[in-house]
Amino acid sequence: MGKVGFGMTAGIAAVTCTVAAAVVGRRIRSRRDWRRAVEVVRELEAACGTSVNRLRQVVDAMAVEMHAGLASEGGSKLKMLLTFVDKLPNGSEKGIFYALDIGGTNFRVIRVHLGGRRSGILRHNVERNSIPQHLMTSTSEELFDFIAMSLKQFVDREEEKTSEPSLVSRRELGVTFPFPVKQRCVSSGILMKWTKGFSVADMIGKDVSESLQQSMIKKDLGSMRVAALVNDTVGTLAVGHYNDEDTVAAVIIGTGTNACYLERADAIIKSQGLLMASGGMVVNMEWGDFWSSHLPRTRYDIDLDAESPSPNDQVFEKMISGMYLGDIVRRVVLRISQESGIFGSASSRLSTPFILGTPLMATMHQDDTPDLREVAAILNDVLGIADVSLKARKLIVNICDIITHRAARLVAAGIVGILKKIGRDGSSGVAGGRAKGGGGASSSGGGKSRTVVAIEGSLYTNYTLFREYLNDAVAEILGKEFSPFVILKVTEDGSGIGAALLAASHSPNSADM
Ligand code: GLC
Repeated sequence: MGKVGFGMTAGIAAVTCTVAAAVVGRRIRSRRDWRRAVEVVRELEAACGTSVNRLRQVVDAMAVEMHAGLASEGGSKLKMLLTFVDKLPNGSEKGIFYALDIGGTNFRVIRVHLGGRRSGILRHNVERNSIPQHLMTSTSEELFDFIAMSLKQFVDREEEKTSEPSLVSRRELGVTFPFPVKQRCVSSGILMKWTKGFSVADMIGKDVSESLQQSMIKKDLGSMRVAALVNDTVGTLAVGHYNDEDTVAAVIIGTGTNACYLERADAIIKSQGLLMASGGMVVNMEWGDFWSSHLPRTRYDIDLDAESPSPNDQVFEKMISGMYLGDIVRRVVLRISQESGIFGSASSRLSTPFILGTPLMATMHQDDTPDLREVAAILNDVLGIADVSLKARKLIVNICDIITHRAARLVAAGIVGILKKIGRDGSSGVAGGRAKGGGGASSSGGGKSRTVVAIEGSLYTNYTLFREYLNDAVAEILGKEFSPFVILKVTEDGSGIGAALLAASHSPNSADM
């Protein structure tokens, strides 16, 4: 009995020891997992560092690259494309104009009635259409035929229902085309390359307006003329300037990112040998392609870039814009799940590129429920990671914060870089004079001048933390003395209307001019 009793006791003790050892083992493993996960996030945070000193280096690099890109074609990754827009709308434009605002996967057709004599936009009608998926990888002819057909239907409907006199003999169209275009003049230009994952192979090297115009003729819209072909940033600048004459630059932060600004005539003439009648010209920077050794790039950015269809291109855009932010976060989470067990066994969905879109990332980042319910739901439904502890959810929020914080602050540095180039950041001791429509951003005039930058794009308008980080960083870089003079103004949905305004300001038919 005694023996048996001893044996049982010993057996129970052995089991208890094994269980205890397993528990201790699990605890040690779990502690090790946590340590690893936290290390990965700390390493990420350090690599994404954007101290104000680092941002100032980016500001300087942006200004230097702007000079280099203007000085010679290919002189910088910044293309600094001349737009031939030398007259920004100022309120005197009059008449009815159409616009076609081509986005990534959709386009809008717009009709604008301008009152002239500063009476503004009397009326504008907009219709949204989406581009069928198959057309995005088909031929330019098919793509433009589809767009021209929708435009024709819109024009017919609009002219049927309006009592305004028919404009059949002189319909003019402004087109927003959000890709790098080498302009031949304000109304035509050649597509240099696709960005943002778009690809209609036979379009590269072709004149965008000519292709569209041919489709318009086919669809019985021959009486309509492409009067302005502009980048989306240029459309945004136009509408910003129409509403506020101190607007000298525009930035888009949506699926892609880019900026344009009003350059002084002498800077352009010196560098490009162009003869310009007026005082300045808008330059489309294509800043998505900006590169500098000062950019805080991480292993995740380098991998994302290397695995993209366009390695070494659009490096700035790949660290900033809506097309990419969610995927950077996914890459960090994937690494943590591979190197620690805190997300359970790795889900195959987590390895799928672009499965985590930036809007979902923003929702996780801004989840204000006490138990981070939205984070849990997105991890479960989108990434296939179930039962994540609150501590691990907090880590996810932390990762989103690091990536968005860096992106927003880099945009801020880019904006101040433009201001530096045109003498509006306070560093040269002379702030520019007032910008005039077509007058260029003057670097003379002395004193501090009100400087407005128009901003469009969902990252800025819909993502509160992104916007706050960006605004704070601009103020931080400029300092207390100069930041009150720099105003970032949202021009929601402005780029399409801006194209119509540019069609008007460059049209001989705009009566009041
Ligand atoms: C991409 C395009 C650029 C556009 C920007 C924002 O960077 O190359 O032309 O302005 O996206 O849409």
